[in-house]
Amino acid sequence: MKTNVLFVCLGNICRSPLAEIIFTDYVKSKGREDEFYIDSAGTADYHTGEKAHHLSLKIARVHGHDLNFHRARQVEHHDFELFDWIVAMDSTNMSDLKHYKKHTHKILLMRDFDPAPDSLNVPDPYMMPENGFENVYQILLRSIDRFYNELLKK
Ligand code: 4NP
Repeated sequence: MKTNVLFVCLGNICRSPLAEIIFTDYVKSKGREDEFYIDSAGTADYHTGEKAHHLSLKIARVHGHDLNFHRARQVEHHDFELFDWIVAMDSTNMSDLKHYKKHTHKILLMRDFDPAPDSLNVPDPYMMPENGFENVYQILLRSIDRFYNELLKK
């Protein structure tokens, strides 16, 4: 049985695709990629079918990840059945997910795993310059390390 993990932001072009590729490469580095099914989605459909934001693609590349496979999609009802854990990037994503009123115990907040949180939210970098995306990357990197270790305890 795999552990199915879905990362969710608003548009599924900036934050959650980065979370998806960081976590995917993290479990690969542990030799445990066969134990996970990992995906990302957005609460909105604004960017359905689009590639990741060019600065998410760039920040991923700078850190040695390839995000070119990604195409944005919106969260679907079926996701609440399929995924064991649904990790929201901010508290708005989290409350939007809870409106589906399904399996709400599966919904987690990414920064609850951040060992050095300065906010509840992974900041939305959509209108930010490149350093906003780098900041998101660093937040995700340290949060995902702890998320992985907490998952092992579940
Ligand atoms: P994301 O960033 O939720 O991290 O993918 C955004 C992408 C698009 C928009 C807002 C945030 N938008 O308003 O189109």
